[in-house]
Amino acid sequence: MKKIGILLSGRGSNFAAIARNVANGQIPDACIAVVISNRPDAGGIAIAKELGLNARVIPSKGVAREVHDRAVVAALQEHKVDLICLAGYMRLLSPWLVQQFPQRILNIHPSLLPAFPGLEAQQQAFAYGVKVSGCTVHFVDEELDHGAILVQKAVTVLDTDDEHTLAARILEQEHIAYSEAIRMVLEGKYEVVGRRLVRTVTAKEV
Ligand code: GRF
Repeated sequence: MKKIGILLSGRGSNFAAIARNVANGQIPDACIAVVISNRPDAGGIAIAKELGLNARVIPSKGVAREVHDRAVVAALQEHKVDLICLAGYMRLLSPWLVQQFPQRILNIHPSLLPAFPGLEAQQQAFAYGVKVSGCTVHFVDEELDHGAILVQKAVTVLDTDDEHTLAARILEQEHIAYSEAIRMVLEGKYEVVGRRLVRTVTAKEV
């Protein structure tokens, strides 16, 4: 049974979708070992409590990044997590934290990276006038929104869209993409070649 740790700061819809897919077997042989928020008022923490999961608030306000990250790592280690999923975690991770879990931290970003990294990616894409946007699940490395890509889903921008309707359709795809990526990582049938994640198959599957 693989243990997933979730880090979040907000409403937690991606976390909720992951929890649903763990419960219904779409992410097999896994459990959510702990949900950690840096904000006490995060909706995701309330959802975690409703689901009866281990929910921890480790406040970051006014705390030095390294000190906060050490507390987060201690909580993740205490729960022996195999995989960490950032799900709307509005903090930059220190290089030290990233190094504790090499290729074991995933993030979801609401654009087709490398386009529109950073905050408000959906609005950035909409204002730029792209005809296609989407979402990306990627490994976390020491640069923002940068690590090797696991899954991307494209979303067509409609003439009738505004930034909110576009963001809502991207979010639907996020909820699908994140679970696909988690399943892939937990199955372990891939290798990372440079930046490229390539699926590997056993002779039996060919
Ligand atoms: C999502 O758009 C995700 O791509 C971004 O932060 C948002 C989190 O939303 N990293 P939610 O808290 O999962 O609903």
